[in-house]
Amino acid sequence: MSCTNKIAVVTGGLGGIGTAICRRLSAEGAKVIATYHPSEADKVPGWLADQAGDTEAVVGDVANAADSARMMGEILAKHGRVDILVNCAGITRDTTMKKMTPEQWDAVIDTNLSSAFYVTQPVWNSMIEHGFGRVINISSVNGQRGQFGQANYAAAKAGMHGFSMTLAYEGATKGVTANTISPGYIETAMTAAMRDDVRESIISGIPMRRMGTPEEIAHAVAFVADDNSTYLTGANIPVNGGLFIH
Ligand code: CAA
Ligand code: NAP
Repeated sequence: MSCTNKIAVVTGGLGGIGTAICRRLSAEGAKVIATYHPSEADKVPGWLADQAGDTEAVVGDVANAADSARMMGEILAKHGRVDILVNCAGITRDTTMKKMTPEQWDAVIDTNLSSAFYVTQPVWNSMIEHGFGRVINISSVNGQRGQFGQANYAAAKAGMHGFSMTLAYEGATKGVTANTISPGYIETAMTAAMRDDVRESIISGIPMRRMGTPEEIAHAVAFVADDNSTYLTGANIPVNGGLFIH
């Protein structure tokens, strides 16, 4: 696979899956820009020291339209274009419908779904003008099948694929592809925060009987981002150990 000399932006780049994606795209030859939330600033120097290749980190709150536009505008001004955009930032606020508050709903919709629009829109026209683009939205198995306690998250993640499918139509004759990757349960801080009994019960229901690794998601991202993945668009690629086969 190859992403040689491509400019790649990964939101949530300092997170578990984001870091693996940054490393993999860098290994495939891309210049990688990881975006991070202001609250993660302390982690940046150590994180950058751990990266090989041509990687930098840029701050921005992807749940905020104005800050996302500023961040993406600065990246465009500095690098001239964005070839690969991976919308990976995300959060959970799990609770049942009985107890879910508007704040929990809004936080998850803003961070996981609206963010994809806020970050992609400022670079979309530039991708079309350059005749090349790969928009890759990191959704979830739970956007495909729902999950007890995740009305907000499942709605946001399902919405991401609606977004991908529409961008796929609009970019199809312009060299710009848009795809969704839907991971199953992956070993990161997000799943470590789950109740132990819930996590163990979910793992016992996964046909492969284990969670996935961030590198297994990064592998799918590299495939979609690859220079030769020219006819792949509008897809929702499951990487879930068989948890949801349909
Ligand atoms: N299935 C069936 N019933 C469940 C249940 C489940 N998974 N979880 C809770 N319940 C029941 C409880 O038994 C209880 O029933 P009663 O009222 O009859 O006693 C009722 O629901 C309420 O339980 P809680 O008080 O525990 O509810 P809560 O609102 O505090 O929390 C929850 C529920 C912790 C969110 C729980 O539903 C849960 O953990 N669900 C799984 C969430 C999940 O998978 N999160 C993934 C996070 S990682 C991620 O999201 C990455 C990714 O994309 C895969
Ligand atoms: P993670 O380690 O928590 O990474 C998420 C990253 O997003 C963190 O760096 C987080 O920063 C950042 N972020 C959150 N809100 C942000 C905001 N408003 N602006 C900018 N950055 C923000 O979790 P992960 O498991 O790697 O998840 C990455 C993506 O994969 C998420 O979209 C998640 O929904 C999806 N996913 C994960 C799994 C899984 O099982 N782990 C499965 C399916 C899909 P903070 O640390 O400051 O919050």
